[in-house]
Amino acid sequence: MKTSLAIPVQKIEKSKIQETDFSNLIFGKTISDHMFVADYVNGEWTDLRIVPYGPLDLHPANAALHYGQSIFEGMKAYKNDKGEILIFRGDANARRMNESATRMCMPEIPEEIFMEGLLQLLDLDRNWVPSGKGASLYIRPYMFAMDNYIGVKPSDTYKFIIFTCPVGAYYSKPVNVKVETAFTRATEGGTGAAKTAGNYAASLFPALQAQREGYDQLLWTDGKSHSKIEESGTMNVMFDINGTLITAPTHTGTILKGITRDSVIQLAKDWGKPLEERFLTVSELQEALEDGSLREAFGTGTAATIAHIAKINVNGKDYNLPEKGPDAFSNKVLNELDGIKYGTIPDSRGWIVKI
Ligand code: COI
Repeated sequence: MKTSLAIPVQKIEKSKIQETDFSNLIFGKTISDHMFVADYVNGEWTDLRIVPYGPLDLHPANAALHYGQSIFEGMKAYKNDKGEILIFRGDANARRMNESATRMCMPEIPEEIFMEGLLQLLDLDRNWVPSGKGASLYIRPYMFAMDNYIGVKPSDTYKFIIFTCPVGAYYSKPVNVKVETAFTRATEGGTGAAKTAGNYAASLFPALQAQREGYDQLLWTDGKSHSKIEESGTMNVMFDINGTLITAPTHTGTILKGITRDSVIQLAKDWGKPLEERFLTVSELQEALEDGSLREAFGTGTAATIAHIAKINVNGKDYNLPEKGPDAFSNKVLNELDGIKYGTIPDSRGWIVKI
């Protein structure tokens, strides 16, 4: 592989790959052998290195642990039938990470460091990229504050790490969701658009309550009026009402700019599918569920991919969605995206980097 940055590598003494059961991967539990690390000190990214995956040395006063300056990305790589590795839209993740960094007063990570660190890590751990339908290598780039300081201010030092996990499906069956109208994930002016740890932490309590009632996830509504559908905890959401695809817009700063969301929108536009980027109101959703005009609803996310929604609870009432037919838009989009990701459909949009 041609590289533009010389990144020193310290290899693991004994790989864990022989002990890994690739036919039984629990999402996020198995971590590959190595990780890429860079430190931000004195205003620059330095000491780029690939080292064995292992514990970090953290000071108890670490600012990320106290004040939450912590951002992350989720992306995936796939293996084609020639054994090549295909990374899906990594440049988009690098850009989004920097948007999160700006919002959280953290330094940008140059795209060259992000991509070179990733490419060299994946090249070294290429045997960890699983092959076969539904299998992929989940990639977790993240950055967090490294100052040891008790006081609320942006840190001066940071650490950027990428590690990877071979994974199967995040959701193994269609999901049941509940429209949340009491708790709030994000409000205008807040951090909803940033992929920052606190957004996920804040969602845990209400999500857990819904899980206890038998739902997999919440459908968040806007923080002011709780009348508009925003997104779900692990994915953006899309609704097909009478053949028109409706998904929340991103201009309010309350919605995560999903890369799968964007990919689905691009495909829908290319295929001439009627599309509206607007907020669907809770009452519109309930009406469409009552009168049968809601053909399907699905989530879009890196981990979730395209996740069919089977049941929606609105205002305390459960609605079962129609069975997903073979010509459902979500099937078409899932097959197209999978084809591009696994290299069986040509990548005409420049979404794949191959190594
Ligand atoms: C992703 O889709 O990459 C996420 O970060 C969501 C999380 C459920 C794994």
